[in-house]
This record gives sequence, C-alpha cells and structure tokens, in this order.
Amino acid sequence: MKVLVATQKPFSAAAVAGIKDIVEKAGHEFAALEKYADASELIAAVADADALIIRSDKVTAQVLDAAPKLKIVVRAGAGYDNVDLEAATAHKVVVMNTPGQNSNAVAELAIAMMIYMCRGQFTPATGSEILGKKVGIQAFGNVGRLVGKKAEALGMSVMAIDPFIPAEKISEAGATPAASLEELYSSCNFVSVHIPATPQTVGSIGYDLITKMPKGACLVNTARKEVIDEAGLEKALEERADLKYITDVAPDNYEALKEKFGNRIFATPKKMGAQTAEANMNAGLAAANQIADFFATGCTRFQVNK
Ligand code: 3PG
Repeated sequence: MKVLVATQKPFSAAAVAGIKDIVEKAGHEFAALEKYADASELIAAVADADALIIRSDKVTAQVLDAAPKLKIVVRAGAGYDNVDLEAATAHKVVVMNTPGQNSNAVAELAIAMMIYMCRGQFTPATGSEILGKKVGIQAFGNVGRLVGKKAEALGMSVMAIDPFIPAEKISEAGATPAASLEELYSSCNFVSVHIPATPQTVGSIGYDLITKMPKGACLVNTARKEVIDEAGLEKALEERADLKYITDVAPDNYEALKEKFGNRIFATPKKMGAQTAEANMNAGLAAANQIADFFATGCTRFQVNK
C-alpha cells in the first residue's frame, strides 16, 4: 500500500523519518508531499495513494474523487473540520484523527498567550500577572483539561464548561463547572476556547458573550478562527477599550483590527499550537501506527466518520 504524507505545514524531519520507518517496517511504500502551494498538487499526488496522513490540509470531495485507491485518511491532530466527511464516507474512505497527541503543545501555547497579553505583548509597559486570576475553559476535552491543570499549577482558579461532559466530571477534574456560557464569560478574566468548528459552533462566540467578560479580560483562541463571529468581536473591542483578544488563527481582517486595536489584539502569523518537535512526533507516529494497524487488522479505532 502507498502511504502519502501530505502536509502544507510539514512535520519535523525527525517525525517524517519516524513515520517512514513505521510505514516501511509494516511493508508499505512511503511518499511525501510537503509545503505544496496549491490544491492541484495534492490532487495529483493522491492519484495512487492508498492511505493519506494530513494536518490541516483540506481533503475535499475533489481530492477524494482524484484518489480512486484511497482507503484511509488520518488527520494527525485533533480537529477534522478540514476533511469532507460525507464525501469520504461516500467514497468508503475511513477518516481518523489522533486525539490527545498534540494537546500538550496547544495547552502550553494557550498559557503562554495569557502571559503574553498580561505583559503587554512583551513591551516594557506595566503589565499584570496571571496569579490569582480566573480562567474559563470552553470545552473540557484533551486540550481544555491540560490548560486547566497548568493554570491551576500557576495559581489561577479554573472554571469550565463542556456540552458533552457532566458537571460532576468537571468537578472531579478539579475545575468549577459553569452553569452556562454566560456564567463562564461573565466570571473569568480569561476564556480559553477549545471547541471544534462544527455547524453548531461556527460564529458562536460574538458580541454578546465577549462583552460579558469582566474589566480587562482577554479571550484566548487556540481552536479555530471560524468559531468567532468576527464582526461581533470587532464591535466588542470597539466598545470596551479594556478587552483583549489573542489567537493562533488570525481573523480575516486581522491587519485592520491590529491597526485599530494595537496591542489589545495579537494573532500568530501561522497556526503554531501543535508545532513542536514533541507534538509532531506524537501525532505523526500515531497516524502512521493507526494506518499500519488498519491495514494489518482492520482496526478502526479513532474513526470519525462512522
Ligand atoms: C489540531 O486540530 O490538531 C490542531 O489545530 C493542530 O493543527 P495542525 O496540525 O495544522 O498544526
């Protein structure tokens, strides 16, 4: 079987070597397409691929149409909003993710972002400290839980909400459950967003929630740009000169927002939450192992298009 690693934002060389090793030891052929500039390159490369490892690379119906031999796509990471699941199912292609494998990297970035904003984006102006502040975790999955643990260790108090996790479980994990999003936003100095982009969540964080935040609060987004209602965010920042926004996924109109709001807003130049040597290795090797298992035993653990 031919296993293609297609990554616009490549893994580290060591992770690629590890993936290659797993694929070849399992008796398969390894191929890589890195830093491609256009979807047409991916469409050409999948023509003879049996398996595909991707990151945020878009696997559209067009890509799937161009891959007649494709049996499995593994998104080396958590979010799979970049894969057309319906089209994959129609093509009888199994789609998996590698949950938890890059979570620590993203959680560390979320904490770093809080400190960066507290310290005026590392300018000499008098800043503030995260000690004693309260962070609200919106979605208490692999990343959210880690952010909670790290925040607690740094002397913050932690509140959390998750539509799929009962309040008792949130309490057991050491966080205070919020009864509603309104409660989370109105009582936390930081809200750290960890929801996936789904039809239900897209555009769901906007003016009403953001303006509920207390004085000087900061919204931290290491999830997806799409979950923010950007017009609502802009209006909130306009009306409340004390609010701040930091994100690993730049808003569409970032340059204009930066111009308007200066160091109350910051976006990384390219999504970097999962871009550590450790996360590349963990997620990349997990993806390769999942593909090797799938071909050897038919194992579909972590399938997301059942
Ligand atoms: C994820 O969903 O796993 C993260 O957003 C990381 O995405 P990346 O692999 O494109 O960096």
